Amino acid sequence: MSDTELRLGEELISPLHPVYDGVQVQQPPGPPYQAPDHPVWVVTRYRDAKTVLAHPDVRRDAEGAAELFTRKTGVHRPAIGAALTGHMLNADPPDHTRLRSLVGRAFTRRQVERCRPRIEQLTEELLDHMAAKGHADLMGDFSVPLTIAVICELIGVPEAERGHIRSSWERQAELLPPEQAEELAQEQAAYLRSLIAAKRRQPADDLLTALIEAGDAGEKLTDSELVAMVHLLLMAGFETTMNMIGNAAVTLLRHPDQLAAVRDDPELLPGALEELVRYDSPVCASMLRFTAAEVELDEVTIPAGEYVLVSNFAANHDPDRFDEPDRFDLTRKPEGHIGYGHGVHYCLGAPLARLEARIALGQLLRRFPDLTLGVPVEELQWLPITFLRALISLPVSLG
Ligand code: HEM
Repeated sequence: MSDTELRLGEELISPLHPVYDGVQVQQPPGPPYQAPDHPVWVVTRYRDAKTVLAHPDVRRDAEGAAELFTRKTGVHRPAIGAALTGHMLNADPPDHTRLRSLVGRAFTRRQVERCRPRIEQLTEELLDHMAAKGHADLMGDFSVPLTIAVICELIGVPEAERGHIRSSWERQAELLPPEQAEELAQEQAAYLRSLIAAKRRQPADDLLTALIEAGDAGEKLTDSELVAMVHLLLMAGFETTMNMIGNAAVTLLRHPDQLAAVRDDPELLPGALEELVRYDSPVCASMLRFTAAEVELDEVTIPAGEYVLVSNFAANHDPDRFDEPDRFDLTRKPEGHIGYGHGVHYCLGAPLARLEARIALGQLLRRFPDLTLGVPVEELQWLPITFLRALISLPVSLG
């Protein structure tokens, strides 16, 4: 097996991409190790991953991370995109708790159910367009516009500005050189400030209005935190879900028996979607963390002041936790998989992601019963990026 390929069992999944700036994640999972040539501890086992992600001495806060960087390298590096980084995923409790509780209400299962009719309608419209064309790229024609429309409508981004959101926030996934990354962040922050100003002038029944009102009512949300919050919701809201829909479609199309089972019994879909997120997690590594004190794991103690990278993908394929982990089995019920993370940063949008994916894949399979991959699986193009498993395009034949 070449070390530039990722295989599950005998199946070629995609070219292996570096998970974090050149750090290769060893398979199968084993004890935590220091990545060769990188100041990072890599965690691949399921039980270690869960310990690390829930450990009070494993931190995410931006200031602590910057201090550690300076201590390790002697270089004081100005933070890139500082206007956008003050959000909950870069914070530890109690700041994290305060920021998350402001939006938590909007993403409960009950609350996101209210989006169902609109998601169904948007999905149907996109499927109509695909049917009219006769062929499709399931990413560009379906999962990307659908997931962007849903999160934009929820936040309250005007329809005419969705194209801008798509082109600007999609660039986020590219590995831009620092100057360009900073320029992009400044542009996005300026756009978000103008969006917030417009919403203040013209409030509506949407999440952004609710957040502005919460901030104004003294719920301790500063203007710059609001900008960063909306940025995080946009970024986390579509980049992940669009890739999940793409990866799920590929996996189902490559397992025709299981695809037929879901088609015959749509009730199997929710369980299948959990297995799909375990089997091919769109977020294959958690955001980089660091240890504020010694962290004791099963066989290894990670000292204080070290970077830690958790591979959610490797942990979800740990044979000590999941039998025959490299086999896709939609009846598996993979409870406890960490495709949506674990601990205080567990995915806020999981109920929305599940609803979107269920509607999107359910309607897609019903509408096009003869759907097949339009190119051999080896020819699918994946983004060469750090921690997402993301298809560039997904040509399909509609039958
Ligand atoms: C956090 C996965 C969809 C919002 C996370 C994390 C993972 C994840 C693994 C934890 C990251 C870490 O700890 O380093 C996914 C997957 C999705 C998805 C696989 C789709 C299938 C969404 C959606 C939203 C969302 C639709 C909508 C807003 C968030 C937010 C956080 C987060 C705000 C940070 C939570 C915190 O710091 O407390 N997600 N996500 N995600 N996700 Fe998702």
